[in-house]
Amino acid sequence: MVIDRQARLVEVESWGDYFLFTLDSPEIAAQARPGQFLMIRVSETTQPLLRRPISLHNAEGNRLQIFFQVAGEGTRLLSLKKTGQCLDLIGPLGKGFNVRPEFRDREIYCVGGGRGIAPLYYLGKELRAAGARPVIFYGGRRAGDLPLRNRLESAGFEVLVSTDDGSAGFPGFVTSLVEEELKKRKPAFLYACGPDPMMEKLAETCRRENLPAEFSLESIMGCGFGACWGCVKKIRMDGQEKYLKVCQDGPVFSLEEIVWQEKEHG
Ligand SMILES: Cc1cc2nc3c(=O)[nH]c(=O)nc-3n(C[C@H](O)[C@H](O)[C@H](O)COP(=O)(O)OP(=O)(O)OC[C@H]3O[C@@H](n4cnc5c(N)ncnc54)[C@H](O)[C@@H]3O)c2cc1C
Ligand code: FES
Repeated sequence: MVIDRQARLVEVESWGDYFLFTLDSPEIAAQARPGQFLMIRVSETTQPLLRRPISLHNAEGNRLQIFFQVAGEGTRLLSLKKTGQCLDLIGPLGKGFNVRPEFRDREIYCVGGGRGIAPLYYLGKELRAAGARPVIFYGGRRAGDLPLRNRLESAGFEVLVSTDDGSAGFPGFVTSLVEEELKKRKPAFLYACGPDPMMEKLAETCRRENLPAEFSLESIMGCGFGACWGCVKKIRMDGQEKYLKVCQDGPVFSLEEIVWQEKEHG
């Protein structure tokens, strides 16, 4: 059941353009699953009119957390909210990641690029609770783009970082770091969230390595719950390509389902 709620902002942490909000929202927290998202009203006025989709970074007890990067006006307005204020949320929305019982005792790769790291903390916790061994890959342009590194490490996850400019961790793209690790150890599954080029490259790697995977896609969203058709992407299902709603049928899709940049991969 989708809930429309006022949630009180109880804590704000920030690192430059990146923000971690902790919200009091018992009803949504009780139903949430990793990979689902919220539609958040960012302004009291009609500017901007549309809510903004933000992933669930964590849900624990009565609390929800979101992690976001300022990308434009909507996320800038969101970043100005102060503790004690209430946010108007709709959620939990969409279909999240599928964590399978056969992952027990297996290594599972979780790959996040930039703000795409947001849902992987919650996913990592769920994997650990299922007895799996998550390995979190965290890629950013530079060291300052890895604000969640300490949080992930403090939570006890194995975290491998990369930066495009070499200022922290592996020098190069996170996709190259994944390729390097795959030479040493083969996981049972891979999850990813990040920019399309990163995920498309990972999809190629997974097909070559015969590694099953799920990807969380982004799309511009009008409503977030299936009413506007603003978020459709081409998805392959039962051997046919169809336009499906990322908000309702996703945002998580399997490797075989996604049609990258409108082209067919063998
Ligand atoms: C399911 C889902 C979960 C998301 N989770 C997170 C998250 O946890 N943390 C986070 O920082 N961001 C997340 N995003 C992206 C976030 O929704 C956009 O950055 C935000 O809506 C941009 O709004 P804005 O008004 O700040 O910027 P705008 O001025 O509207 O746009 C700035 C730039 O972002 C692009 N953009 C706008 N809306 C979206 C969108 N919905 N998806 C992708 N790109 C967009 C625009 O094309 C433009 O290039 C998620 C997006 C989706 C679809
Ligand atoms: S965002 Fe409206 S249908 Fe998906």
